[in-house]
Amino acid sequence: MKIGMLTSGGDCQALNAAMRGVVKGLSENDKDLEVYGFYDGYKGLIYGNYRLLSSKDFSGILTVGGTILGSSRQPFKQMRIPDENGLDKVEAMKETYYKLNLDCLVILGGNGTQKTANLLREEGLNVIHLPKTIDNDLALTDHTPGFGSAAKYIAASTKEVIRDAMGLSYKRKMITIMEIMGRNAGWLTGATALAKTEDCCGPDLIYLPEIPFDVDRFLKKCSDLLEKKPSIVIAVSEGIKVPDGRYVCQLAGGSDYVDAFGHRQLAGTAGYLASFLAAKTGCKTRAVELSTLQRSASHMASRVDINEAFMVGGAAVKAADEGDSGRMVVIDRVSDDPYMSAAGIYDVHKIANNEKLVPRSWVNREGNYVTREFIDYVEPLIQGDYQPFMVNGLPQHLVLKR
Ligand code: F6P
Repeated sequence: MKIGMLTSGGDCQALNAAMRGVVKGLSENDKDLEVYGFYDGYKGLIYGNYRLLSSKDFSGILTVGGTILGSSRQPFKQMRIPDENGLDKVEAMKETYYKLNLDCLVILGGNGTQKTANLLREEGLNVIHLPKTIDNDLALTDHTPGFGSAAKYIAASTKEVIRDAMGLSYKRKMITIMEIMGRNAGWLTGATALAKTEDCCGPDLIYLPEIPFDVDRFLKKCSDLLEKKPSIVIAVSEGIKVPDGRYVCQLAGGSDYVDAFGHRQLAGTAGYLASFLAAKTGCKTRAVELSTLQRSASHMASRVDINEAFMVGGAAVKAADEGDSGRMVVIDRVSDDPYMSAAGIYDVHKIANNEKLVPRSWVNREGNYVTREFIDYVEPLIQGDYQPFMVNGLPQHLVLKR
């Protein structure tokens, strides 16, 4: 059996575990297995940049930062547009597939990635889809590989930020705004609520992108809280918008950079709100933008996340073996207490065009905190850890061998 594998979209912690699951499952089933790894996502498939991978490539990679294949963002709508040299990208991908005589392509990624994967399936290629994204916005899967580890890092960092702010606010009032990723979906921002533990009061307010953001009400809420406590910590999504549809980060001017997907770069929401509150309240304020740290923190991966990624990788093999093209392996929550999950499988076209947002009923009435249901949903996903492989005091990362 010959399979091709690629990962596309932003980095996340569970990528290597999912690929290892694929290869482990395949090598147990099929002794004559050849796995071709495409570099830099779809680019590798388009331009024929790949390498035959050996079992050594997959050894010890479970929790090492970085992916063994690299990634890139290739917007679906540009796939049909020839490149600058007139190359038809879809035809080029098919050509690579047939040249290598592949039986199947295993494609790991989020919404955008899966749309392109679906296009390739419609063009006649055998494709098995594996979900991965820190944003957790894929439909029909209970959650996505990568989300649990990012949520764990975010919750731990929130605790640390709150602890730090408490120490410093002894003599002076202090406001800290934390900015979390997730353009349209507030799963990651809501995970800051997990910081509320017996040794931490948790964030005071949480604002998700699903709920329009009212600047005046926000100011009033912060002022009221500051009457009662010296330090307040607020979590905001990078994607919160004012009612007229502008991102909060645009209010300060912000960056006009728009990526190949037509997405405006979201950054500066916390910075804008921190300056705004400093001017309005006279308090010391600080903005903490977690930015890429939340998807790259390999030293804070969730064991549940890594194990589940390995599980879906293995299930992809079964699907490939059964000739299940156009299907995505998903995670089904089998039980809440104790938490248990299993791999399931769905048609990818039901998943690729749907963005899973936080349900309104999992946000409180005021729209400034998540509910108990939200916390119960996320909490099991951040459990357990893996000791990172440390070299000279630092976590080791993978470097692409091209
Ligand atoms: O896809 C994951 C994600 O981390 C989003 O939450 C975020 O909006 C986006 O990537 C940022 O992408 P980039 O780092 O390419 O600007």
